Amino acid sequence: MIDLRSDTVTRPTDAMRRVIADAEVGDDVYHDDPTVLALEARVAEVLGKDDAMFTPTGTMANQTALRAHTSPGDVVLASKDAHIDLHELGAANAISGLTIQQLDGEAGTFTADQVRSAVPEIPASMPASLFQPVTLVAAENTHNAAGGTVWPLARLTNVTETARGLGLATHLDGARLWNATAATGVSEAEYSAGFDTVSVCFSKGLGAPMGSALAGSKAIVDRARRFKQMFGGGFRQAGMMAAGALYAVEHHRERLADDHANARRLAVGLAEQPGVEVDLDTVATNMVYFRVTAMSAAKFEAAWLDNGVAALALTHDTIRAVTNLHVTTDDIDAAIKAAATVLG
Ligand SMILES: Cc1ncc(COP(=O)(O)O)c(C=O)c1O
Repeated sequence: MIDLRSDTVTRPTDAMRRVIADAEVGDDVYHDDPTVLALEARVAEVLGKDDAMFTPTGTMANQTALRAHTSPGDVVLASKDAHIDLHELGAANAISGLTIQQLDGEAGTFTADQVRSAVPEIPASMPASLFQPVTLVAAENTHNAAGGTVWPLARLTNVTETARGLGLATHLDGARLWNATAATGVSEAEYSAGFDTVSVCFSKGLGAPMGSALAGSKAIVDRARRFKQMFGGGFRQAGMMAAGALYAVEHHRERLADDHANARRLAVGLAEQPGVEVDLDTVATNMVYFRVTAMSAAKFEAAWLDNGVAALALTHDTIRAVTNLHVTTDDIDAAIKAAATVLG
């Protein structure tokens, strides 16, 4: 089976399993697991921040950041269909009492002007206490729901500088920041520079079995550690998982370019099929979102699976296929051939 459902479905390679088995461990809650500490130091260095905190999931890295930056009742500005809103199941509302306001822009981005307009100008005649405070701006790079799209660095910098000028904190959901770097050559640290906190995942394109991290200043990461513990994220002998993550950071970043080339090859091959529409401009990294017009997406998904290819029907007409470290160029050619068979 060629599994294109997600880049999270990968299993650890043999080399990764060996470092996991051999990992030196301590107790994450006592902050003395040497492999966790080594991972945190390395991630902070790669992202150009003072400190980092290892978490079991990207959701926990994002939600501890949101909680650390805000107070209940605050408004967070985020992109349209941001993961922190759409796929974290109302955690920001349920756990931290936040309202997320989506800013609809191009390919999962938004502009500094949109940030400015979303912050209420309080008339001199009105009490400030009548306005819900906007306190945080959150961006997502790459942007999952927009198709794995990459923020142009200039737009991102404009947004973070504007946010800072307005006194707002900034968070980057960088679950796939590694992919943005592989696609553009802009380093992870350059993308992170304007942000107070940045989350990254090791369990997506990098192929580790689990784990994410939140990086930032020592003060904000210390505050987030309190919420990691509160949310149930103190995961004891986590060094085993940190070893897999560290291996992924050192050995699997460069190969993401292969996933991107495979995604483009798939997108181009699918675009040639009658009954399929692909916006090639949105295929920037390892994701291919395409529309099926010949039949329902659910029917296409089931028939593609019968022909050996797993993908996800996200809506009545949209399918998502994601390349990852188990998917070869031959698999891509086989997937295109299977699509042709399905489409008849
Ligand atoms: C953009 C983005 N952020 C955060 C997450 C959350 O990661 P996790 O599944 O580890 O909680 C995901 C997961 O797919 C994601 O795509």
